[in-house]
Amino acid sequence: MRKTYGVALIGCGHMGEAHLSQIYYKENVRLEYVCDLDEAKALSFQKRYGAGRFCTDSRDCISSPRVDIVIIATYPSTHLELVRQCILHQKHVICEKPIAPDLEEGRRFVRLVREHPECKVLVGHILRHNATYQKVADMIRSGAIGRPIVFRMVQNHHTMDWEKYLAILKEASPLLDCGVHYVDVAQWFTGARVQRVSASGSRTEEDVPKDSFNYGFMTLELDDGSVGYYEAGWSNTFSSDNLKEFVGPGGSIRIIYRKDRQTHQEEGDLIEYYKYPEKEYEMINLQSDRKPTGAQFDHLIRMIEEGCEANPTIEEVFESFEVCCNAQKQVLDKLMLRE
Ligand SMILES: NC(=O)c1ccc[n+]([C@@H]2O[C@H](COP(=O)([O-])OP(=O)(O)OC[C@H]3O[C@@H](n4cnc5c(N)ncnc54)[C@H](O)[C@@H]3O)[C@@H](O)[C@H]2O)c1
Repeated sequence: MRKTYGVALIGCGHMGEAHLSQIYYKENVRLEYVCDLDEAKALSFQKRYGAGRFCTDSRDCISSPRVDIVIIATYPSTHLELVRQCILHQKHVICEKPIAPDLEEGRRFVRLVREHPECKVLVGHILRHNATYQKVADMIRSGAIGRPIVFRMVQNHHTMDWEKYLAILKEASPLLDCGVHYVDVAQWFTGARVQRVSASGSRTEEDVPKDSFNYGFMTLELDDGSVGYYEAGWSNTFSSDNLKEFVGPGGSIRIIYRKDRQTHQEEGDLIEYYKYPEKEYEMINLQSDRKPTGAQFDHLIRMIEEGCEANPTIEEVFESFEVCCNAQKQVLDKLMLRE
């Protein structure tokens, strides 16, 4: 018979919901605990997902013998300490990115994970488990558009919930918070490493904390000659924008998310593939699931049961984290000089 796992969720917010909505009904999951500092949120998650218990102190669920796996969906400044507690109580972990609010704490996170291979820790780089990104990775790695690659990546959010974004901005700028996904994508798609990063940014809203910023872009140079940029902004004024285009000497690939399709949105994401020598377009339709937390959870189970590697590995997690910390620092240094 298949083993079942007792699961606890810490952080009943946006990502907590994304996790539970895909795992609470799995045959191998017993949802034992939901936890949030805000009791009303924890209670509402308990009711919605039929969790055994709710708590407001994470130590209650981490120390419970009924719990095998802890999902951490709180802010970056809490990740290291929560993972430390989980490891102390021999729990396996899915932890949201970014691993920490700064480079030093990120180093400690990685050291801790490396020192405890008996506890499986998977950092939530959700695009690694997304079928559209997996398909594009396969295409680029098998030479569909040749090398080197130009990456054009933009993700701007016109926010209707500024207070929520402000809470995250206190811990990480968009270049760190979202950038870790896309620096990882650039390295994953090419197998190359970022050797230079250069960044600029701005505060376009008065209430953005002085040690953060809400708009930034970074340019990346990889060691295989690929180059690219990533632009990210959260504000009340930017329009929302989502560009993911990869260009090479042999053609280009653009991801069009289901929600951005002109027609047939029910069908999924589109990969627009332009083959240059043939001057032909191929449109590849893929079932889309932007946050495949269920597939990510299944990967953790394979790490536990089959001993497979984390995806991405903790080294790969740290590489993209380090690049983004560097970019964030460059922007903050420039902003300080300007003021
Ligand atoms: N992978 C992705 O695509 C993706 C997308 C968005 C956010 N995230 C990441 O997920 C994390 C959470 O972001 P969010 O958007 O869900 O935030 P959120 O504000 O919606 O939810 C966070 C919740 O955690 C709770 N919390 C904070 N500290 C806690 C603690 N010590 N114990 C218990 N509960 C605690 C808060 O009360 C809040 O309800 C961040 O690290 C963020 O970067 C990832």
